[in-house]
Amino acid sequence: MKLLSIIVVLLHVTPPLVNGAPTATNASTNASLEYEYIVVGSGAGGGPLACRLAMAGHSTLLIESGNDQGGNVNISVPGYQAVVTQDPKLRWDVFANHYQNQTRAKRDPKYTYQVGPYQYYVGPDPPSNATELGILYPRAGTLGGASDWDGIAQITGDDSWAATNMNQYLDKVYEWLPTEPTDPTILLNDTMLTQHLVGGAAVMGVGPDPLNAITGLANTLLNDPNSQLNPARDSTQGFFQIPLIMKNGTRTAVRDFIVSTVAQGYPLTVRQNCHVTQINFNTSGSTPIATGVNFLDGEYLYSASPFSGGTSTPGTAIATQELIIAAGSFNTPQLLKLSGIGASEELNNFNISVISNLPGVGTNMQDRYEIPVNVKHGNDFQILEGCTFDGKAHDICLQKWQDNLDILAQRGAYATDGLAATMAVNSDFASTSDIDLFIFGGPVDFTGYFPQWGDAAVADHQHFSWYTLKAHTRNRAGTVELRSTNPLDTPIINFNYFDTGTTAGGADQLDLDAMIQAINMSRQALEEYSVYSLLGGDSFVEENPGPSVTSPDDIGQYIKDRAWGHHASCTCPIGADDDINAVLDSEFRVRGVENLRVVDASVFPSIPGIFIQAPIFMISEKAADVILN
Ligand SMILES: *[C@@H]1O[C@H](CO)[C@@H](O)[C@H](O)[C@H]1NC(C)=O
Ligand SMILES: *[C@@H]1O[C@H](CO)[C@@H](O)[C@H](O)[C@H]1NC(C)=O
Ligand SMILES: *[C@@H]1O[C@H](CO)[C@@H](O)[C@H](O)[C@H]1NC(C)=O
Ligand SMILES: *[C@@H]1O[C@H](CO)[C@@H](O)[C@H](O)[C@H]1NC(C)=O
Ligand SMILES: *[C@@H]1O[C@H](CO)[C@@H](O)[C@H](O)[C@H]1NC(C)=O
Ligand SMILES: *[C@@H]1O[C@H](CO)[C@@H](O)[C@H](O)[C@H]1NC(C)=O
Ligand SMILES: *[C@@H]1O[C@H](CO)[C@@H](O)[C@H](O)[C@H]1NC(C)=O
Ligand SMILES: *[C@@H]1O[C@H](CO)[C@@H](O)[C@H](O)[C@H]1NC(C)=O
Ligand SMILES: *[C@@H]1O[C@H](CO)[C@@H](O)[C@H](O)[C@H]1NC(C)=O
Ligand SMILES: *[C@@H]1O[C@H](CO)[C@@H](O)[C@H](O)[C@H]1NC(C)=O
Repeated sequence: MKLLSIIVVLLHVTPPLVNGAPTATNASTNASLEYEYIVVGSGAGGGPLACRLAMAGHSTLLIESGNDQGGNVNISVPGYQAVVTQDPKLRWDVFANHYQNQTRAKRDPKYTYQVGPYQYYVGPDPPSNATELGILYPRAGTLGGASDWDGIAQITGDDSWAATNMNQYLDKVYEWLPTEPTDPTILLNDTMLTQHLVGGAAVMGVGPDPLNAITGLANTLLNDPNSQLNPARDSTQGFFQIPLIMKNGTRTAVRDFIVSTVAQGYPLTVRQNCHVTQINFNTSGSTPIATGVNFLDGEYLYSASPFSGGTSTPGTAIATQELIIAAGSFNTPQLLKLSGIGASEELNNFNISVISNLPGVGTNMQDRYEIPVNVKHGNDFQILEGCTFDGKAHDICLQKWQDNLDILAQRGAYATDGLAATMAVNSDFASTSDIDLFIFGGPVDFTGYFPQWGDAAVADHQHFSWYTLKAHTRNRAGTVELRSTNPLDTPIINFNYFDTGTTAGGADQLDLDAMIQAINMSRQALEEYSVYSLLGGDSFVEENPGPSVTSPDDIGQYIKDRAWGHHASCTCPIGADDDINAVLDSEFRVRGVENLRVVDASVFPSIPGIFIQAPIFMISEKAADVILN
C-alpha cells in the first residue's frame, strides 16, 4: 500500500499561534541566541519537527517571519478559507508566471498588474501606468503555518522511505492532528446543493435512487476516503466527502501542537516577526559547516506583505548541532541561493560566493493543475442564507457558528470549507492506477487566484462549481530564481505550463487530456442534476468554460489559458548520490555541506498525493526521527 493520497484538504494558510502563546525572546542579547537546533519556518515542515526535537529535550529555536494572529476568526472559521487569504495581517502577495511569454500569459483573465503599492488591476486593458506582475500565488507569513514514498526509496536506495515504513509517521501525525468531515446534515438541508451532489454521485456510479436521494447521499457522504481499512485506498474511485483539519467545526493545525509543546515546558523557543536573511558557515575546514543564521527582527518585513517597509533590527543565532530550513518551495531555494548554495553560474551573476555548487536548487518545481466549470442559478443556495463572509455583526452564519459550539450540525455553513464533496477518478490518461483527478463540487464561484478572489468567490449565493484538481502531473519544468540579492525581495517564479514545460513522451498532452476528461465529467454531473428535479432545484447557465466551448481543442485552450495550481513543491529534491541535480540526500541533508537540512515541500523528487500537506507533516515526523537517531 502506498500512502499517495492522504486527503486532508483546505487551508491556504495554516493557523498561527493563539493568544497566550510564547512570545519572542529579546533580540538584543546575541550571546543567548545559541541553541542546539534552529528551525527556519513554522509551517507543516518545520512546526512538527521543532516540537519533536524539543520534546526529546533539545534546545530548539523556531523562527517564523509572520506573527501571532490568535483569535482571528478569519483563521478559525473553516468557511472563511477564501477570505483569510485577503487578510493583510497574514498574506504575502507573491506573483508567478504560468508562461514566460507575457502575451500568452495575458490570455488568462486573472492576469494582474500593479497600479500602486499593493494596488492591483486584474484583466485585459490595463491603465497605461500599470506594470506587469503575473498570476497571484497567495502565500502566508504566519505562525504554525501522501506520496510516492516507494519512489524515493528506489531512487536513493534508502529503504526507510518504503511505504510500509512510512505508515508509522502518519500515525504520529494523527497524535496531534484532528480531522473530521463536515456534518452531512449541514449540506443536505439545502436541496439545490443536494441535487448537485447526487448528480456527481451518479456520474461515479453511486447515484442514489432519485426517490431516496437524500438518505442515499447521506450514506455516501459518510465514506472516508482516507480509511486505513481500505487497502486500495489510493486507487479507489468514488464519491466522497472531504475530511477537514478541524475539531468540532473549528479549524486547527500545527499551531496547537507548537503551543502545547511550549506550554508543557519543553525547551522550544518561538521567535516570531523574524526574517532569516542568510545561513552562516564555518568554511575553515574542507567541508563548509552550517553554524547558524543572520536574521532581521521586525513585523511584516518580506516585500510581499502589504504592510512591508517597516524598520528592522539585525541579529544572529547559532546552532550548535544543526540548522533546518523549512521555509517552503519558494523561500527555501531563495535562502539557499542567497547563502551560496545553488548553481554556481547564477550565484556568480549576483556576486554571491559559492559554498556548494548545486545546480538543482530552485529547479524541478511541480504543481497541480486546477480548473473549474462554473454555473449560475436564478436562486440562492439556502445553505448560504445570511452568510456575508466579512466577519461583521450582520454575518448571521458567523453568529450561528459561534453560538453552537457543541453541536456540529448546527454550526452551519461556516463549519465546512464550501467544497462539499468530490468525485475521485482514475482518468484514462493516468500513468498508474492511482486516483489522478479530484473533482469537487460546492456553492462557490471559484475561478482561481487574483487579488480579492475571496470576495469574488462569495459575491453572490447563486454559483455552483465543479472544480478539478489534477494530481500526479508530469510537468517538472518550474524554476525559482533570484530576482536580486535582497532577502526581502520575492524570487522570480516560472511554472512553464503545459507545452512550455515537460513535453517528453507527450507529457503535456496527457495532463491536458485528463483535465479535458474532468471537464466532461463535470458537465455530465450538471446534466445528472436534472434527473433529480423532484428535489426542486432551479436551472442554471454555464459561465465557464461556457456553452460554446465544446470541442476538445477549445476545452484544451480554456484549460491552458486559465488553469492554476496551489501546491508548488519539489524545488530542492532528494536524489541519488550520482544525480547532479539532487540537492538533498535521503536524510534531508544538503549536499556538499554539513549540519544543514531542508524539511518542507521542496524535498520531494515528485509531487506527492492529492494534497501535499499531509505528506509534509509525515516527512516532518520522519526528519525528527532521522535527526534524533
Ligand atoms: C530587551 O531589549 C530592550 C531594548 O533593546 C531592553 O530595553 C530590554 O531590557 C531587553 N530585555 C531583556 C530581557 O533583555
Ligand atoms: C479578515 O480578513 C479581512 C480581509 O479579507 C479583513 O478585512 C478583516 O479585518 C480580517 N478580520 C480580522 C478579525 O482580522
Ligand atoms: C507568445 O504568445 C502569443 C499568444 O499565444 C503568440 O502569438 C506568440 O507567437 C508567442 N511568442 C513567442 C515568441 O512564442
Ligand atoms: C495609475 O492609474 C490609476 C487609475 O487608472 C490610479 O488609480 C493610480 O493611482 C495610478 N498609479 C500611479 C502610480 O500613478
Ligand atoms: C435547515 O434549514 C431550515 C430552513 O432554512 C433552518 O431553519 C434550519 O435551521 C436548517 N437546519 C440546519 C441543521 O442547518
Ligand atoms: C570552524 O571549524 C573548525 C574545524 O573545521 C574548528 O576548528 C573551528 O573552531 C571552527 N570555528 C568556529 C568559529 O566555530
Ligand atoms: C549582534 O548581532 C548583530 C548582527 O549580527 C551584530 O551586528 C552585533 O554586533 C551583535 N552584538 C553582539 C553583542 O554580539
Ligand atoms: C558583481 O561585481 C562586479 C564587479 O565588482 C560588478 O561590476 C557587478 O555589477 C556586480 N553584480 C551584481 C549583480 O552586483
Ligand atoms: C466538541 O463537542 C462536544 C459535544 O458535541 C463536546 O463534548 C466537546 O467538549 C467539544 N470539544 C471541544 C474541543 O470543544
Ligand atoms: C470530452 O467531450 C468532448 C465533447 O463531447 C469529446 O469530443 C471528447 O472526446 C471528450 N474527451 C474526453 C477526454 O473525455
